[in-house]
Amino acid sequence: MITIKSKKEIEIMREGGRILAEVLRHVSKKVQPGVSAKYLDKLARELVFSMGGRPSFLNYKPGGTGQGYPAALCVSVNDEVVHGIPTEEKIIQAGDLVKLDLGVEYKKLHTDATIMAGAGKISPVAEKIMRVTKECLELGIKKIKPGASLNDYGRAIEAHALKNNFEVVRDLVGHGVGYSIHEPPQVFNYADSRMDKVILKEGMTLALEPMINEGDYEIFLADDGWTYKTADGKLNGHWEHTVVVTKDGCEVLTKI
Ligand code: MF3
Ligand code: CO
Repeated sequence: MITIKSKKEIEIMREGGRILAEVLRHVSKKVQPGVSAKYLDKLARELVFSMGGRPSFLNYKPGGTGQGYPAALCVSVNDEVVHGIPTEEKIIQAGDLVKLDLGVEYKKLHTDATIMAGAGKISPVAEKIMRVTKECLELGIKKIKPGASLNDYGRAIEAHALKNNFEVVRDLVGHGVGYSIHEPPQVFNYADSRMDKVILKEGMTLALEPMINEGDYEIFLADDGWTYKTADGKLNGHWEHTVVVTKDGCEVLTKI
């Protein structure tokens, strides 16, 4: 079931989203050659707590079982798609394309967002995938309104990615968000008739997160059990916002 949030709950998610955006903006400025991913995680963690929130991913078990996620922030670099673990040994290099993914729990409600940043000077294709992925998210967001289906959203994203000779990751999707970090529905980032049935209503809250590959859409789970990487080792782009469906469109709750 897709939950509908009350005005009061949306106001709380708006505040939580503001905290999340503020933290990501701050941490993204520290993405520079020589810093460790662990440092970025520590910074994010401390900022979230200092602003009255709790990092949603810390100890989170996506399938409900096994070991919880060991950090507050996912730091995924270049061919890493999502859930990169921010270790001390993971040192950001000049030219790296970095994705920072953070969830914030505030007054029991969650928001989720991802920002991209380049370390030093990055290659033209890295610049392009960063820009095109952001455009995909923006075009998708424009499709979110009451009465629209999630297939309208997926179609818009896929069309823009393909037009730019990129591919859309198929094995990972966006999701509802709020009472927990992952709620129904799944939000495909490509056209799929299964999404025709998901009709948007005012008060739904969604984490929209296109994952766009420079090369083939195939990905795999690395040996650490968390990090997803592109199968061909080429770059991945990922931006994410939490939005609420409004009377005539949607509002981005994590505007950076
Ligand atoms: N933002 C991530 C997602 O939507 C959530 C990461 S949870 C973690 O998939 F535990 F894997 F970090
Ligand atoms: Co998410």
